[in-house]
Amino acid sequence: MNDNGHPDNTFLDDIAEVLITEEEIQARIAELGAQISADYSGMSPLLVGVLRGVFIFMADLVRTITIPIHVDFIGITRYGPSTRTQGVVRFTKDMDICIQGRHVLFVEDVIDTGLSLRYILRTLETRYPASLRVCTLFNKPRTRLFDLEPAYTGFMLPDRFVVGYGLDYDERYRNLPFVGILKEDAITQRRLPIGTQT
Ligand code: IMP
Ligand code: MG
Repeated sequence: MNDNGHPDNTFLDDIAEVLITEEEIQARIAELGAQISADYSGMSPLLVGVLRGVFIFMADLVRTITIPIHVDFIGITRYGPSTRTQGVVRFTKDMDICIQGRHVLFVEDVIDTGLSLRYILRTLETRYPASLRVCTLFNKPRTRLFDLEPAYTGFMLPDRFVVGYGLDYDERYRNLPFVGILKEDAITQRRLPIGTQT
């Protein structure tokens, strides 16, 4: 049983609607990988992702890239009065690879308000990368609080909370191979706590 009182093997029943299928996601990632391989040919870019949501996208994306790359991850925590629209971003894990003089492609699962990404990009810019661009699988432009234009976008999403393909609700559903909307009754009273890790 999980802490909502449901047997854990019924978590597929929590999905009200599949928004993007596994096949659609994989086909789009193959296109992104081909584009990145062409654009960064001869540059050996460094792909940097934010744990934990991006781990599945990163794993699939790098396997569609046909040029030499390096991969690194950072961890952040957002905390404050409302994790959606305000709050403070703090690194919980910094990069292991030095980005000075490197062509850095920052890989995100989803850009919502853009708060986390703005903080991260500002920090990375102070470390003198040769270039710094963003690849996001999902983009929710309607909720954007800051002006951010990713160089690569997988899918535009409506302003709805989604789960699956790395994205969680209360740390669950990351392992669904598609992206979907949760049923109302799967969403508990529990709000994202202070100190929420993405
Ligand atoms: P932002 O700073 O508002 O752009 O927040 C981005 C982060 O919020 C993502 O990396 C996710 O961890 C989380 N997030 C935003 N929208 C969703 C969603 O629909 N489902 C699950 N997580 C989300
Ligand atoms: Mg999350």
